[in-house]
Amino acid sequence: MDTIYITGGRPLSGTLAVQGSKNAVLPILAATAAIPGRFVLSNCPAIRDAAVTRSLLEHLGLRITEADTCLIVDSRGPIRAVPEAALACQLRSSALLLGALLARLGEAEISLPGGCVLGQRPLDYHLDALERLGVKIRRENGRLLCKGRPRSGTVIFPYPSVGTTENLMLAALGANGPVRLIGAAREPEIRDLAVFLTACGAKITGAGTPCIRIEPAPLHGAAHRILPDRMEAATWLCAAAATGGTLTLTDLIPDQLRAVLQVLRLAGCEITEADAELTVRAGPLHAPGAVVTGPYPAFPTDAQAPVMAALLRASGSTLFRETVFSDRFRHVPALCAMGAQIETAGDLASVRGVPALHGAEVSATDLRGAAATVIAALAAEDESIIHDARHLDRGYSYFPERLRQLGAEVHAE
Ligand code: EPZ
Repeated sequence: MDTIYITGGRPLSGTLAVQGSKNAVLPILAATAAIPGRFVLSNCPAIRDAAVTRSLLEHLGLRITEADTCLIVDSRGPIRAVPEAALACQLRSSALLLGALLARLGEAEISLPGGCVLGQRPLDYHLDALERLGVKIRRENGRLLCKGRPRSGTVIFPYPSVGTTENLMLAALGANGPVRLIGAAREPEIRDLAVFLTACGAKITGAGTPCIRIEPAPLHGAAHRILPDRMEAATWLCAAAATGGTLTLTDLIPDQLRAVLQVLRLAGCEITEADAELTVRAGPLHAPGAVVTGPYPAFPTDAQAPVMAALLRASGSTLFRETVFSDRFRHVPALCAMGAQIETAGDLASVRGVPALHGAEVSATDLRGAAATVIAALAAEDESIIHDARHLDRGYSYFPERLRQLGAEVHAE
């Protein structure tokens, strides 16, 4: 999808089942390279990042077939230690192959990963932690040449980095004794990875807390259902809130969206919860107060742009503070082109509600920024054209079709 055309002004309403989580399926796919076995992964989202990761794994020698939303992965044959650079540079999570290949082969050679440009996204936490566990790492022409399985030991993270936590969990599968990760990330996707690895025979305790312990154990294939995507759910809730709609989401875990639900309720949305279901009824919105992003369970950085878009017409002013990434307001110019009143300074963005938004021709900048731009276009009173809409394909499955299912007037080419 290169360009998406949206005629706004229509409330989004209906019922939608939430897709499998992008940020859960990517580390779990990487984990299949660490363990010789046969894996059946259900509820996989049809997104480009998963397709690129599948190609990376097939290039390494894994055999993957697909059946509906299931991926069947067979990693029992010999595998390479060098992922295809042209693929690896397309997404950040290719860095997770480092931990998986070190566990499996005791060596890995990867190029520096790609993904959304959200400011500096180095790998120093990953590399420092691996070197702390005895892995030898040489940097050569933009590539990382790594040798040696990790030793048993304790790593203290300077920041609860999601990717670093996942990478070290995978590397620890091949360690010669227990590995402890102190200051680990607590995101639900970390827990889902631990559930999958435990099903493969791993001995992991503490996932979802700041202290995770991984003990070596014989490993084998497993079946696993991918966690629902809390960020896709947040995006749909914001689209309904922005357009005054009534939306029911099924197959999600409301508890994993606490911080987002709190902000939307403070803004005036009526949200009812059942076990795996949420219904939002959006009325006139008002500023909910400050929104500060942070590591889970704080307000998630991936929901910052969609929630900002939902509040563009809320009465009053909302102050956003982005503490996770250094450049995650890149969607603001597109929202302002539609009439939003937003001022940014460093890690702060102040949104003053306006009575109406108008269509514009704009370009998307990154995955969640693109979602925010679509949400603003849905709330605008006429037609918008959004270029570089391919960012959406990275993390949202069948996005235009699902928007139309909720009553949006949208087409893509
Ligand atoms: C994961 O990225 C997610 N991606 C991101 O989602 C999410 O925004 C992020 O976690 C935070 O929750 C996937 O899971 C595939 P981090 P990750 O390591 O692992 C700095 C989306 O839209 N840092 O927790 O890359 C880093 O620059 C994407 O779905 C270092 O400085 O995030 C950032 O400022 C976007 N050195 C902060 O830590 C390192 O070695 C948090 O990054 C690693 C990270």
